[in-house]
Amino acid sequence: MKKVKFATSNPHKVREGNLVGKKFGIDFVQIKQSYPEIRDEDVSKVAEEGGRFVFDKIKEPIIVEDTGLFIEALNGFPGSFSAFVFRKIGNDGILKLLGSEKDRNAEFISAIGYCDENGVKIFKGIVKGSIADEKKGMEGFGYDPIFIPTGYGKTFAEDPDLKSRISHRRKAFQKFCEWLTKEG
Ligand code: IMP
Repeated sequence: MKKVKFATSNPHKVREGNLVGKKFGIDFVQIKQSYPEIRDEDVSKVAEEGGRFVFDKIKEPIIVEDTGLFIEALNGFPGSFSAFVFRKIGNDGILKLLGSEKDRNAEFISAIGYCDENGVKIFKGIVKGSIADEKKGMEGFGYDPIFIPTGYGKTFAEDPDLKSRISHRRKAFQKFCEWLTKEG
């Protein structure tokens, strides 16, 4: 197994990454090195700066991952500020903000920043969907109870197997693992 350090405080992300990693013989190992999340609307930039910061600290190849939930009717809010907004108003606050809005389109974007002595590379994954009318499901974390992927009738929190097959994170990790297997 090739080991890759993953700087995150979120064990769910490591578990989801490893569902992909195991098919490639890659084991993502959580390290709790924190890093500043810069204020930028682009999750790729946040991951890029985070990856660089952690690599400069530990001098070993490293990944960080940043996710945003972009809601169309809210002009992409909360986007790269999703963690802050989740802490402040949570899923109930998002549902309140949307109210009876008909356009509930949204997408999750995940950006992995891999940094080694050659610099940073970014791997992105996107899943499109919509915001549910109410919270549903007990699995997953964060915004999973209010996100229904396009073409399915359940939230990610109701169907974690579905999430592991089609999620933004799954796609980003798939791209990263393919690249690392070829180039790394
Ligand atoms: P960050 O990537 O850790 O900055 O996460 C941003 C916010 O989005 C946090 O509040 C997370 O709980 C939430 N979040 C991140 N990934 C997911 C996901 O896969 N599903 C639902 N919420 C997520």
